[in-house]
Amino acid sequence: MATTTHREYIWELPVRITHWVNALSILTLSVTGFYIGAPFLGIPAGDDVLPMAMMRFIHFVAGYIFTASVLFRVYWWFVGNQYARLNQFIPTTWGRVQNTVQCALFYGFMEDEIPHSPGHTGMAGLSYIVVFMLFLFEVASGFALLHMANGGGIIYAIGGGWMLDILSAGTIRMLHHVFMWCIWIFVIIHVYISWHNDIIERNGLISSIFSGYKFFGDHH
Ligand code: HEM
Ligand code: HEM
Repeated sequence: MATTTHREYIWELPVRITHWVNALSILTLSVTGFYIGAPFLGIPAGDDVLPMAMMRFIHFVAGYIFTASVLFRVYWWFVGNQYARLNQFIPTTWGRVQNTVQCALFYGFMEDEIPHSPGHTGMAGLSYIVVFMLFLFEVASGFALLHMANGGGIIYAIGGGWMLDILSAGTIRMLHHVFMWCIWIFVIIHVYISWHNDIIERNGLISSIFSGYKFFGDHH
């Protein structure tokens, strides 16, 4: 019978808050964004109902909240604790490279043990950096679309208007849409793996993203 001997504080408050703000924003942005692309409700606009205007408004409010949360988490890459830092996502130290390779071998059934990592494993970190790149692209392309819709302005220009010099408006809109699906493919795999690891390792992984604490003992 496995026993838990101690708990360790891993995820600081900013990591947990930005995680759940991002998750809720992504849900809101996906539902409203999907509506903007394909108005599925079929509610006719009346004097006092403007469904598209409302969906766009909610999309933009959620978009600003999401932008602030993502930028704050990027700042926390540089000032957070050892489990929150950028080197947990991009393996820059020899130890992290080894951890990542060992994880890959474990997932490929070529290694019996998954390396011990109190924070993110090397593979999880890599998947999060990819998903953060998707987040940053969604923000920049969202601001590029706002720049077009609202006819310019310094905030929109810095936020993503510059992208219009590189890509056509149609391509930006298409990528903004396609990357939504890429994020959802990540989320499905992410929730499955988190759940699975929690059950196998009995380390309280899922509760840790609410409380900050993970549990360790003689069973790992
Ligand atoms: C839109 C939905 C979600 C997105 C985009 C997302 C994304 C992420 C990201 C980027 C991280 C890294 C956190 C950091 O260091 O800042 C993370 C960690 C984590 N997430 Fe999520 N998440 C989502 C939903 C969920 C849900 C529903 C659960 C619970 C079942 C969950 C469980 C976890 C856990 C346990 C960790 C930390 C453990 C680890 O290192 O893998 N996430 N998530
Ligand atoms: C994870 C984040 C996001 C997702 C999943 C998302 C999703 C979507 C989707 C699916 C569309 C419709 C595209 C189409 O099919 O034509 C859309 C449109 C749009 N999004 Fe986002 N979006 C996100 C973030 C943002 C952000 C951060 C902003 C800016 C603050 C933004 C601004 C816009 C604008 C301006 C449009 C076009 C609205 C229109 O044409 O009326 N989005 N978004």
